[in-house]
Amino acid sequence: MAAKSARRAQLESAALYPLDWVEERTGLVGGMKYFLFRKVPRDTGWFHTLGSATLTAFLVQAITGVVLAMYYKPDPDKAYQSIQFITNDLTLGWLVRGMHRWGASVFIILMFFHMARVFLFGAYKYPRELNWIIGVLLLAMGMLEGFTGYLLPWDQTAYWATVVGINLNGTAPVVGPFLAQFLSGGAEIGADTLSKFYALHMLALPGAIFGLIGLHLYLVMRLGVTSPPWSPEAAGRDRTDAPASTEGRQGLVRPGRRGGEADG
Ligand code: HEM
Repeated sequence: MAAKSARRAQLESAALYPLDWVEERTGLVGGMKYFLFRKVPRDTGWFHTLGSATLTAFLVQAITGVVLAMYYKPDPDKAYQSIQFITNDLTLGWLVRGMHRWGASVFIILMFFHMARVFLFGAYKYPRELNWIIGVLLLAMGMLEGFTGYLLPWDQTAYWATVVGINLNGTAPVVGPFLAQFLSGGAEIGADTLSKFYALHMLALPGAIFGLIGLHLYLVMRLGVTSPPWSPEAAGRDRTDAPASTEGRQGLVRPGRRGGEADG
């Protein structure tokens, strides 16, 4: 390969100077490299991108949500009008609101697809059980985001859907009545409910989700991602311990090595 020209080397070092400056003082560039450039199994494919797709959907919700919060007013007398203003008058407001509303469904659907991938690949098994549990919490919080956000436009659909949701929660054994009381924030659904849902929707839940995603990704980094079950490197392929007896246990119930032919 031809040697780099002096000019190119000079340009490169000028471009790298700010990165070197930050790295020397914080070590953050090295940390970022460690996070982004990890070894993954050779046969990871599109299925493994569902987690990052979910993350992207969540980030879109966070960014569009911040823009909406600049114009939305969590007050029963103003909420509906503020949403009308965002949709009809604010420059590109319709787009931001549309992205946030449709994006909510995309986020939940991607979460389910990602969870299905993890389940079907057996990626929830040892040592990743804790990451599955964190995922379950993320799923619950994601759905609570959908529930609390649905009330905010303060139209008929929003109001009555929330009445149904709160009543459903109220039927839960033991904790039901407390839950319904906590959610409605008073004798009926009104100003207190709206501000409570708003606080949960734009502060408490996103904060918790951010924290849990941090933990989730830390564990993905620490444990690595699993190979697909059909991979020659799939977990359990190297197991040699044959089941005690396979006499009379044919077909689907016959135990076999994961990713390989049944043990005889
Ligand atoms: C906000 C929602 C979520 C985000 C942003 C997220 C993100 C990710 C990412 C980026 C990965 C690594 C790449 C991949 O395997 O796709 C991952 C792996 C994983 N996720 Fe999630 N996830 C979410 C929800 C869930 C849910 C609902 C579950 C299950 C209940 C779950 C369980 C797991 C497990 C067990 C792994 C490790 C998979 C492996 O090692 O192959 N995650 N997640």
